[in-house]
Amino acid sequence: MRPLIAGNWKLHGLARQLGEIGAMASSLSVNPPATDILICLPATLLARAALAVAGRIAVGGQDCCSEIVGAFTGDISAEMLRDAGATAVIVGHSERRQHHQETNALVAAKVVAVWRTGMMAIVCIGETLAQRQAGETLAVCADQLACSTPDDIGTSLLAVAYEPLWAIGSGRTPDQDEIVEVHQRIRQCLVARWGAAAKPVRILYGGSVGSANAHEILMLPEVNGVPVGGESLNVRDFEKICRSVPAGASRIKN
Ligand code: PGA
Repeated sequence: MRPLIAGNWKLHGLARQLGEIGAMASSLSVNPPATDILICLPATLLARAALAVAGRIAVGGQDCCSEIVGAFTGDISAEMLRDAGATAVIVGHSERRQHHQETNALVAAKVVAVWRTGMMAIVCIGETLAQRQAGETLAVCADQLACSTPDDIGTSLLAVAYEPLWAIGSGRTPDQDEIVEVHQRIRQCLVARWGAAAKPVRILYGGSVGSANAHEILMLPEVNGVPVGGESLNVRDFEKICRSVPAGASRIKN
């Protein structure tokens, strides 16, 4: 399975940074690392970023509307993102769940909207610190995964991002065996639900991943990639993370 490194610029990014993104895409095309590379940008930058990277890396959205078209002022549909050049969309990021009260059911509807356009949906799940301390991590993640994904199969266009809320932007990560334990449970849930069709689903670990720890996290069993927030804003650091994919990562695991 080819790993996926997915930058997430969140509420950052102006047109003046497009040159840096284009330069990074060119640099990564020389001796390219064996990984899929995606940067999820503000919607305002997508079309120009797609031109700047010229297919050398992928660009994606950070959210989309669950509706396809209609009277939804200010919303952006999956089709609009695709039209701007996106090939993937993050859905159900914990910041959307927390600040915009997004429910599992809404996230599942967004996944359907993304799949309709043929794009990949990166569905985020993860526990709070209180849930981890109460020993609820595995149950919370299994429940979020089950309820944030639709039943109808679309697994070749699905990635699951396990992002503990307390690890995002905090500089803290779970221990390696804790990451592996959650990823193994996610894989079990996927296989129990979708059987062999779940095989291509990548499970990403996100939350304080940077150039200092990406390599060791990407080496872990059942870790098929990483979403990167803060450290993706500096394109040099992001390139370092992309280049830290272990040689043969797609062969030695799973
Ligand atoms: P972080 O964010 O890398 O800044 O912790 C990760 C994310 O929110 O996806």
